[in-house]
Amino acid sequence: MFNFAHLSDPHLTTLKQIPWSALINKRLMGYISWKTHRRAEHRREVLDLLLSSLQEHHLDHIVVTGDLTHLGLPQEFKEARQWLDSLNSIADTTVIPGNHETYIPTSYQATLKQWTPYFQSDSQEFIKQAPSEKDTPCFPSLRLRGPVAFIGVSSACPTPPFLATGRIDSKQMGDLEQILRSPSLNGFFKVLLIHHPPIPGSTRWRKRLTNAAQLSHILSQHPVDLILHGHTHQCSVAFLDTLKNDPIPVIGMPSASAKGIKPGYQSQYCLFHLNQENHTFRLSASLYHYIPEKEQFTFSRPLPLP
Ligand SMILES: [Fe+2]
Repeated sequence: MFNFAHLSDPHLTTLKQIPWSALINKRLMGYISWKTHRRAEHRREVLDLLLSSLQEHHLDHIVVTGDLTHLGLPQEFKEARQWLDSLNSIADTTVIPGNHETYIPTSYQATLKQWTPYFQSDSQEFIKQAPSEKDTPCFPSLRLRGPVAFIGVSSACPTPPFLATGRIDSKQMGDLEQILRSPSLNGFFKVLLIHHPPIPGSTRWRKRLTNAAQLSHILSQHPVDLILHGHTHQCSVAFLDTLKNDPIPVIGMPSASAKGIKPGYQSQYCLFHLNQENHTFRLSASLYHYIPEKEQFTFSRPLPLP
């Protein structure tokens, strides 16, 4: 049995004491959005209750599919790193970036590098060296944990105002295909982590993964066993067709810190139990959601999986 939890989009940073000089760009719009409504919705106390709930399970691993920050400021990466360190006391943790981590072009060294222990590949065959130049993160990452291969891709890239699209660059797409084709991963349960929903047409145009069709094509030929994403701030279960195997479950989680001012957007997390019998994996998934009136998380329902 291998147990892991998926949460996403915690948007945990506070943006207090941000100098105005840091906001003379797209970040000003993001700051106004945080000040006028996002700070009321994304609450640290909700996130703390979620972590308390996680502690009730015997977890082997936790995955966080991006958007830990609001504006991708270096000081937010520092704040999020402290939170990741606290998560790691509950279970081993893997994180990937979301679009808020690349709100505007910013130095890799000043931002994502601070989270290196939480995404760096641990497989020598596929290890990506930390870049010496700015802005190119070490993705795809491959982290082998028990029977699971966690494969993280970065769909985070800076976008113009009013857009929150994502893209997997061509180098990364090629490296991902190489990982998925590798015989080294035979026998592992492959979990793909991506911030943006990977199925074409599954989210609004301004929030889409622009090369979802290319990714879907690769995955149809070289399937994984499960895809986890965030970004939409809603719970979703979909299936991605493949050429030979069963369809791949694609599961999206809402924001882990969402109070739920907007109905249907309340914080949730998903707990996965993976059993291996002989050479066959059996996966079950349970959804837990936040109840504001009781200020606690509770079991919601099992998720339908093949
Ligand atoms: Fe996002």
